[in-house]
Amino acid sequence: MTSKIPVLVTGGAGYIGSHAVLALKDAGWPVVVIDNLTTGFRFALPEGVPLYEGDIEDAALLARIFREEGIQAVMHFAGSIIVPESVENPLKYYHNNTAKSRALIDAAVKAGVPHFIFSSTAATYGIPEVSPVTEDSPKLPINPYGMSKLMTETMLADVSRAHDFNYCALRYFNVAGADPQARTGQSTAGATHLIKVAVEAALGKREHVAVFGTDFDTPDGTGVRDYIHVSDLANAHVLALEQLIAAPGESLTMNCGYGQGFSVLEVLDAVDRVTNRTIDRRMQGRRAGDPDSLISDNRRIKATLPWQPKYADLGTIVEHALAWERRLTELRGA
Ligand SMILES: NC(=O)c1ccc[n+]([C@@H]2O[C@H](COP(=O)([O-])OP(=O)(O)OC[C@H]3O[C@@H](n4cnc5c(N)ncnc54)[C@H](O)[C@@H]3O)[C@@H](O)[C@H]2O)c1
Repeated sequence: MTSKIPVLVTGGAGYIGSHAVLALKDAGWPVVVIDNLTTGFRFALPEGVPLYEGDIEDAALLARIFREEGIQAVMHFAGSIIVPESVENPLKYYHNNTAKSRALIDAAVKAGVPHFIFSSTAATYGIPEVSPVTEDSPKLPINPYGMSKLMTETMLADVSRAHDFNYCALRYFNVAGADPQARTGQSTAGATHLIKVAVEAALGKREHVAVFGTDFDTPDGTGVRDYIHVSDLANAHVLALEQLIAAPGESLTMNCGYGQGFSVLEVLDAVDRVTNRTIDRRMQGRRAGDPDSLISDNRRIKATLPWQPKYADLGTIVEHALAWERRLTELRGA
């Protein structure tokens, strides 16, 4: 059995990071969080998990956390995630995602932290010519967000060759859903993720859902994406950490998706079925840079880790997202 080393989760008060915190804690790993709470929430953290409120570029704070908590692994979720914003304000993304990741990696190397897991993204592929997309497909990001993440992957690869340090870059496809026990979920106001937006509309928090593009080369003309349940994704991080510990000389880069796609209209229909309502759909033009279809080839993660997705069902993802949205309404007293 893998010995359970202390893990620092950056961005642990955010959507995906808080699910990773739960997955680690549920599996008995000692876990602490650093988060500056720009888009995260204290309530997303379970009791008993220490939160260092601060920024990942704060070298003195990181050195203290690494030393005091005996950190042996970092799971790095902190970052900025809005693609259109990255086009309007690229330097924000190269700062918060790339430069600050460099600061974090530097602090980890200086403290002798041997393992690092990084939240990367399918946006590193840009518009792939072939879908499902494998990890070896060309990495040609079409926006600063994707490039800011690819640059961090590159730093990690170089650092792993120079130091006693291995890493795993996980390239997420479309992350959705919420903790099955509704302990955390996606809480950001004004989120742009389709399933989140659709359940907000179903609960009357939005008037309608915009469908961007109806003339894609897909069966119903709307964009097709690979939706992965956030708790399955969080579990993949824990398994990846075990693998990094088991094979210290090896680093990994793996897609995280189910390898199946659903169109925008299929997702909205699923939300209608689960909620027994009909969401108002507003057909609009395509957004720049949206591929017809983006589906992961997930053979590598399945061959490398004992990863058994538990929630690979669109209806289940929607149910969990909906339960969290209701809970969020209670929490906020709205
Ligand atoms: N949501 C998706 O579908 C998706 C897809 C691919 C990759 N990712 C990646 O997953 C990671 C987590 O995304 P999320 O959806 O949970 O976003 P999120 O905004 O909910 O979480 C990010 C967290 O990081 C914190 N943070 C941001 N900058 C920080 C800094 N400089 N120092 C300390 N804390 C900071 C925020 O307060 C927040 O709690 C991101 O790196 C994102 O790029 C997300």
